[in-house]
Amino acid sequence: MFYDHKLMSQLPTLSATEVTSERLLLRKAHHADRDGLIELMTDPEVQAYLGGPRPRSEVEQHFDTSIANSTPSPGNFVIADNTTNRVIGTLMLARRSADRPGHVTEGGGELELGYVLRRSAWGAGFAYEAATAALRAAADELPDQPVLVVTQTANQRSLKLAARLGFRPVSTFEEFDAEQTLCTAPLFMFRV
Ligand SMILES: CC(C)(COP(=O)(O)OP(=O)(O)OC[C@H]1O[C@@H](n2cnc3c(N)ncnc32)[C@H](O)[C@@H]1OP(=O)(O)O)[C@@H](O)C(=O)NCCC(=O)NCCS
Repeated sequence: MFYDHKLMSQLPTLSATEVTSERLLLRKAHHADRDGLIELMTDPEVQAYLGGPRPRSEVEQHFDTSIANSTPSPGNFVIADNTTNRVIGTLMLARRSADRPGHVTEGGGELELGYVLRRSAWGAGFAYEAATAALRAAADELPDQPVLVVTQTANQRSLKLAARLGFRPVSTFEEFDAEQTLCTAPLFMFRV
């Protein structure tokens, strides 16, 4: 497979601001998502492999001063139920900075997929559905290139999801005092 790495690092991420799937709507954050998004950041189980839960007061302040007022950055979505519009989680498809460890290209800057669901939404295939929809939309818009999933090796649910999506583990490395597994898949694998 041929990737133009120089070109790749200059490429944007998915430009769509909304992506729909059978049960979900990927959209920008609304004020009404406040409680759900704060829950995501403060839930010990959800944050177990993401550096631990943040203090509620800090998260509330951060949400009220920055998240709620900022313009949404491309590739960052709230995952909502497409009938109730209730927030289920968040999904990100953004570029992995070259100065962090964990890359499959020399120049870095690859697309990286991340997902976080509310604890009550685990076990229903929502993360799989959201990731598939976002990756399909990205594959329609962008040239072929490697996509990464980086997750703590201890995070079995996340590794299982990455494998079900078709990502293959390629290496491990240390970051944030934990072993991380680097998985990758070609973007065009998600074309329909
Ligand atoms: C990682 C995470 C998103 C995985 O959530 P998940 O719900 O297990 O993931 P999936 O969407 O793949 O769902 C798979 C489960 O739904 C079940 N399922 C039910 N209905 C389904 C459907 N229609 N389609 C697919 N799977 C379905 C599957 O059987 C599977 O169940 P199992 O876990 O008992 O085997 C979630 O654990 C999480 O938010 N963790 C905290 C955040 C985190 O660590 N993120 C990783 C950083 S990259």
